[in-house]
Amino acid sequence: MYTNPEILKSLKKVEETRAQRFANKDNIRRMTGEEKEEILKAYHPDYREDAFTTLKIGVNKGQKVPVELAAYLEAHSRIKDKVLDLSNPDYDVDVLVIGGGGAGASAAIEAHEAGANVMVVTKLRIGDANSMMAEGGIQAADKPNDSPAIHYIDVMGGGHFANRPELVYKLVTEAPDAIAWLSNLGVEFDKDEQGNMITTHGGGTSRKRMHAAKDYSGAEIMRTLRDEVFNRGIPVVDFTAAIELIKDDEGKVAGAVLMNMETEDLLIARAKTVVIATGGAGRMHYQNFPTSNHYGATADGLVLGYRAGAKLLYPDTLQYHPTGAAFPEQILGALVTEKVRSLGAQLVNCDGEAYIHPLETRDVNASGIIRECSTRDKGVDTGNGKAVWLDTPLIEMIGGEGTIMKRIPAMYRMFAKYDIDIRKVPILVYPTLHYQNGGLEITPDGQTGVKNLFVAGEAVGGIHGRNRLMGNSLLDIIVFGRNAGKESAKAAKNTTVGKLTLSHVDAFEKEIESAGITTELVSPKLLPDYTRHRSIEIK
Ligand code: FUM
Repeated sequence: MYTNPEILKSLKKVEETRAQRFANKDNIRRMTGEEKEEILKAYHPDYREDAFTTLKIGVNKGQKVPVELAAYLEAHSRIKDKVLDLSNPDYDVDVLVIGGGGAGASAAIEAHEAGANVMVVTKLRIGDANSMMAEGGIQAADKPNDSPAIHYIDVMGGGHFANRPELVYKLVTEAPDAIAWLSNLGVEFDKDEQGNMITTHGGGTSRKRMHAAKDYSGAEIMRTLRDEVFNRGIPVVDFTAAIELIKDDEGKVAGAVLMNMETEDLLIARAKTVVIATGGAGRMHYQNFPTSNHYGATADGLVLGYRAGAKLLYPDTLQYHPTGAAFPEQILGALVTEKVRSLGAQLVNCDGEAYIHPLETRDVNASGIIRECSTRDKGVDTGNGKAVWLDTPLIEMIGGEGTIMKRIPAMYRMFAKYDIDIRKVPILVYPTLHYQNGGLEITPDGQTGVKNLFVAGEAVGGIHGRNRLMGNSLLDIIVFGRNAGKESAKAAKNTTVGKLTLSHVDAFEKEIESAGITTELVSPKLLPDYTRHRSIEIK
């Protein structure tokens, strides 16, 4: 419920201009390429020089990364000064999958299908992942007016042509099969009365190719994948984090040091191949942004891979989803799916102006909101910062009464808890840290430069270039998760593991020392720390 007089005053302007904006909805101008470049440079957080630093050690030495990430990439190992017996592992498998989200589950399923003895370890529970929280949908060019070639062009354009072409090729050509695979496993995609898949636009898409399960798309996909992992009897070791990769004496990755999250006991897993599927980094709260990410999104895979010698690609590019909830405070940063804009909601400033096309790419729309709320002074003061309106009642005007409950019921419920009925009143939004565009560099077979180390999902860099389009993350966890599962199982068949060693961790510690880095931090971070450090004298 809105009660603040300034919010109410601006709300009135939004309501007064709605009919006019509805009439003009198909005429909102798209920005030119030059205008986009300009707004990104001036307002996108990736361009804030003071938010980045250069790495002093490791394979990406000299390259730019967010300051918060640099601190954890150049931190001490959690096993520093610990004596570990690697000769008698607690687990011995063909394929070790680290991470229990969509990419990890897909990898585990395919590795199992290929006959490998596969095990999943996850620091929380299987399904505690950004995959589960994804709302809007998954892209695939499987309609007659579309093709993987058109999808390819959209992905490359959205990513500012920095994408690795061979990875994009794989993403788009295997997308239709990803949808078929998920459907066969039991995912209930939205269909019309004739049984055809309902598809919508996302920002930067030239065709309607977003398949969805209402606005619970990730939960529906993850539910199905998790069931499949359990049905196959694939062992899942939960509440157990991988804190360091293990190599063998030939330099191949050959397992991981695991830590029980409750007791902090250390365990050794030996494996012929390892798949990192640890997800994103929203809980690093780069530049103090709130996040749409799950509790465990702390860039762990990047740290594990980097210390083992795997290269990062585009670690300096993050995605700030334009529409994070900005009011009420209890849901600050929570995702307001782009599907809300696909269905017709406009971005509107404090004066009731639809100042930008709602389906510009995410980086452009995030920059546009930051501009309205800063130099243009057209933001609405929420009492907790500035925000713009997302005019949701337009959805029912465009799609007819009942569209919101039918297509985005989760959005309705999220705001209804706070007496905000999004069918009748707009909501306040501001960018939220949503996705790590960069990550570990891979070849199309999912392998890093370090032998037998595979990566899938949000921990990969290069698929999406410098900006991902909506719905290509759920797609990449399936395409590249399955791919990593198949390839890691294949590689495991031809692998003999030598003597296990952690000498690369010792070498990294020496690099820290030689570079003169003084730090108390240990990494991976594993969980965010929201403790308020207060000195309270207890008498
Ligand atoms: O807006 C959304 O529903 C988010 C989708 C995505 O990140 O792909």
